[in-house]
Amino acid sequence: MYTTLVKTLENNILTITVNRPDKLNALNQQVMQDLNAVMDEVYQNQSIKSAIITGAGAKSFVAGADISEFVGATKEQGIALAQKGQNIFFKIENSPKPIVAAVNGFALGGGCELAMSCHFRIASENAKFGQPEVNLGLIPGYGGTQRLVQLVGKGRALELLMAGNMIDAATALQYGLVNYVVSQEELLPKAIGILQTINTKAPLALKGCIIAANAIFDEKQNGYATEVNEFGKCFETLDMIEGTSAFLEKRKPNFKGC
Ligand code: COA
Repeated sequence: MYTTLVKTLENNILTITVNRPDKLNALNQQVMQDLNAVMDEVYQNQSIKSAIITGAGAKSFVAGADISEFVGATKEQGIALAQKGQNIFFKIENSPKPIVAAVNGFALGGGCELAMSCHFRIASENAKFGQPEVNLGLIPGYGGTQRLVQLVGKGRALELLMAGNMIDAATALQYGLVNYVVSQEELLPKAIGILQTINTKAPLALKGCIIAANAIFDEKQNGYATEVNEFGKCFETLDMIEGTSAFLEKRKPNFKGC
């Protein structure tokens, strides 16, 4: 039912593949609409515990927003485009279930922004990251100026934003933009392996980790107060009783997500 995404659900992990390889998986409005809809599925479908976002083919994760859609747009249309894109990427960032970017090639512009909206990133050795919008007389519009500063620091971020150059996977690892660099063949197995571990944990505790970690970047919240609140909420869950009991009884916990 998605024209630009392929999805597979295996062992409670939904793999979402942006599928426009002839355009290096560039984000046109149809991809954005499909990403928005698939995130609704991630939120609502009880059999999805976590998700991976990747790109089709061996060359590109996502090579940016589709530049052909920018031609002739007005300021108002530009604002609407960016707002819509930011809202979809907020939906990824605020997903109550872990979302990992498996970056299999170019992650440029909106592609880098998409990867950065995920909870963490794993790259293949051929991956390249960048925010080349200045080469087009533009700046990032899907949260890139904000999340790049958060992830790599202001100095590195501003150099990348203003020079518009690409960095390779090894540099992205050194910058802390990605957690691991592996071969193309190992990329999805690595992401799946980490998510299989995460999927054994208490779902509401995972949700609490995401809410609290995101709170630090939300000026409307006090992150420490959010942490206190999320910590407290865990005490109302059966999974907290199960987790603490299992530890004391020297057995593995069986979490139910409630
Ligand atoms: N938007 C629209 N189309 C794009 C695109 C984008 N962001 N990125 C790549 N494509 C298209 C190309 O136009 C080309 O289409 P065509 O075969 O119909 O001409 C196809 O994808 C393959 O790209 P091509 O440029 O031929 O591949 P390459 O290996 O020579 O170069 C890149 C790869 C990533 C360096 C180059 O495509 C590029 O610079 N893309 C734009 C990156 C960018 O500026 N992103 C930010 C957008 S805001």
